[in-house]
Amino acid sequence: MTEVKWVEVTDAAELWEGDVVDFEVDGEQVMLAHLAGGEIKAYQSMCPHQEILLSHGDYDVDNSELTCTGHSWKFDLTSGKGTNPVGSELYSFPVKIVGEKIQIGIPQDGKQHYCRFSGVSAGVPEFSGVPEAQGVSMTHTEEPVTAEKRVGPILRGIDADFCDAIINAIETDNPHSDVEVDDQGGYVRITTPWRCRLTRKAVEEELGTDFRLADIEPNLAGFAGRIQFGDDEIVWHLDREA
Ligand code: FES
Repeated sequence: MTEVKWVEVTDAAELWEGDVVDFEVDGEQVMLAHLAGGEIKAYQSMCPHQEILLSHGDYDVDNSELTCTGHSWKFDLTSGKGTNPVGSELYSFPVKIVGEKIQIGIPQDGKQHYCRFSGVSAGVPEFSGVPEAQGVSMTHTEEPVTAEKRVGPILRGIDADFCDAIINAIETDNPHSDVEVDDQGGYVRITTPWRCRLTRKAVEEELGTDFRLADIEPNLAGFAGRIQFGDDEIVWHLDREA
């Protein structure tokens, strides 16, 4: 049986009925949902369709249905199963309350716990009652994200090996994202859809030495999106992902 690491995320009193809140837990994006009647569930927060946080979606507490802001896919949060279209499913994490605190269990199997909808493995999902105008196309689940929805650093004057290390680290830190590298000679733009993480740990693993994220600043000519700068990670995001 896979060992689970329990991580405390919030006070139970802070999560009100109807709340759906996103947490980064042990390197995973996890959303906690407080269902009608008091049950608390934890699921992957990234939509199985594309890289959008489901916690920013519209949650109808009365029927326990969450609608993604991206293309209106709907999920039953009592089970994690897609309701429209059917065929997709959210990865479900164990949850427990210890004292006043909510804990989420992260399986220690070295995998990222994220179900992405695959028309091959999950069967072709069927929509019902969703008009074409909502932009849903089941045959184009990999539709490109427009440039204005991509975020990440623009690096200038950077050594090629160091640049490769940053690119590899971003690929490691954003395992389900489409990482795009635009090398213009004078500068390199590295972007992912919606949200881009870069951790000190991943850079250090690439370089094989200690590294301070602040040391990247002289080469940071700019960036797409907004930025949160910390000692252990930098996150670029769109306004709506703040
Ligand atoms: S990203 Fe969620 S429905 Fe498309």
